[in-house]
This record gives sequence, structure tokens and C-alpha cells, in this order.
Amino acid sequence: MSKKKEQLSRAISLVKQIMRKHENTQLIALSGAGISKASGIPTFRGENGLWKDYNPKELATPQAFERDPELVWDWYSWRISLIKNKTPNLAHYALVTLEKAGLLECVLTQNVDSLHQRAGIENIIELHGNIFRARCEKCHKRIHLDHAPKELPICSCGKLLRPDVVWFGESLDSRLLEKSQNVLTNQCDVLLVIGTSGIVYPVASFPKIAKKNNAVILEFNIQQTPISHIADVLIQGKAEKLLPEFVNRLLPDAPSPSELKEEGVKTK
Ligand code: OAD
Repeated sequence: MSKKKEQLSRAISLVKQIMRKHENTQLIALSGAGISKASGIPTFRGENGLWKDYNPKELATPQAFERDPELVWDWYSWRISLIKNKTPNLAHYALVTLEKAGLLECVLTQNVDSLHQRAGIENIIELHGNIFRARCEKCHKRIHLDHAPKELPICSCGKLLRPDVVWFGESLDSRLLEKSQNVLTNQCDVLLVIGTSGIVYPVASFPKIAKKNNAVILEFNIQQTPISHIADVLIQGKAEKLLPEFVNRLLPDAPSPSELKEEGVKTK
């Protein structure tokens, strides 16, 4: 048996073991940029990662926005235009299969691209915000952006709006953090960690929280990460291939990720 098949089989048998013990087994997914790579959205680190060509300090900090809001909005506008034309891939749909089957409790994501929701995920916590929103730091109003703003967006109160994403040096929304910690502590028998480098805190600490509460940790990544040493199984390879395979073998009678993708395409 190939190494990947062996890793998948171990992961599936661990989950089935838990499902036999608990009637109401609960899975949580934690996703990062790697899950959207196959949709054509660049990751931040690694080969062709955004932070190779761009300096996060100049584009993704409050100081950068204060210094040069036009440059920051230009960069976010470029990313909005890029992401807008991309579609969810089979890894996103694999999570929808799990959610529809009542196994997946929640997706915790660091992604700002909305691809989980566009695939059909209902229960999601977006820890780093959403690129299709802008917000006002004065009156706290949020607006939806269908497309990249053509000029600097101004709030009805007169203040310049900012992208509604978390920048370096900023805190995450404390309510979202609390909610995430709560699901990881109380509703997580199995944590699927998908396509994240596991180095950006506080989200990088989530697998440890789940582990402390006896969850099984299954990691889907093309390479080892700082999370791998606490993972019960690292399923090493592309999430868009291995996650659907994992789900198809775990739930052979459920609507498969490719069927869901096909339906999604038809209803567009
Ligand atoms: P990164 O770009 O840091 O990491 C992407 C991870 O996905 C790496 O571990 C890759 O090995 C893995 N990967 C790449 N392609 C994959 C594939 N096809 N299948 C499975 N895994 C794959 O992205 P994040 O961990 O999401 O924050 O980054 C965390 C945060 O750092 C982001 O939310 C962003 C960034 O700076 C802010 O902007 C605040």
C-alpha cells in the first residue's frame, strides 16, 4: 500500500472507531490558504507564496494603511478581482459532504475568500475577516463589496473605509476567538487541520486546545508543519485530492464532493 493510502486508512479507522463509541461524533475543520490553492488562489508562504513578492508590513498592517491607504486598497482590490472569479474546489465540497451528513460541526477558517460559503458550508467562523467586506473604524459600519472598489471607499459618516480583514499586529475579534475555543473544547472529537502553515497565532494554537481535550488531530498538508508533531496522522498530499477521498471512504452513501461540485456548477 502506498504511504498516502496507509495514512488515509489510519485516519479513517480512527474516525470510525470514535463513531462507533459516540453516536453523535463531532468533527471540526480548521482551514488555511492551502485549501484554496487548487482554486487558483495563491497561498501566503511556500512556493509562489504572496509574501515572497510582497512585503506584509507595507500592505497588511494598520501602519501601512495609515501611511498609504491607496497602495493598501490597490493590493486588496487586486486580490478581490482575482478571488471573485475563482470557484471552490473538491476539498471545499468534501467539507460540505461532512456538514450535510451531520458530522461536521463547524469550519474555523483563516481564509478571507468566501469559498467555503460558496461551496455551501453553513456553519463557519471567519477568524481573519472577509475580503468582500469593508468597515469603518469610526462608526463600525460594514459594507459588502461585490467587486473591487474603483476609488477609495468612503463611509456614509465621511471616514475612509478599510478592508474588513485582520492585519498583522491586530487582535482577532474576541467573540469569534471565544466561540472557536468553545467549539474546540466542547464539540470536537476530531479536528481536521487543512492547508495551514500553523505559524500564525492565535489560530496556530487551536490544534493544541483540541488535543488537550482529547480530540484526534488529522492534518491534511503537502508538507510537515509545526502542527504535525501533535497530529495523530499527517495525510501528506494535496487536500483537493486526499480530503474527498477521505470523505468518500468514510461516508460512501453520502452525496460525494464531486456530485456537490457538479450541482454547484449547474445552479450557477
Ligand atoms: P500559508 O500560506 O502560511 O500556508 C499554506 C499552507 O498550505 C502551507 O503549510 C502549505 O504547505 C499548505 N498547502 C499548499 N498547497 C496545499 C494543498 N494543495 N493541499 C494541502 N495543503 C497545501 O497560509 P495560512 O496558514 O492560511 O493572515 O496563513 C495564515 C495567515 O498568514 C493568513 O490567514 C494570513 C497570512 O499572513 C493574515 O493576513 C493576517
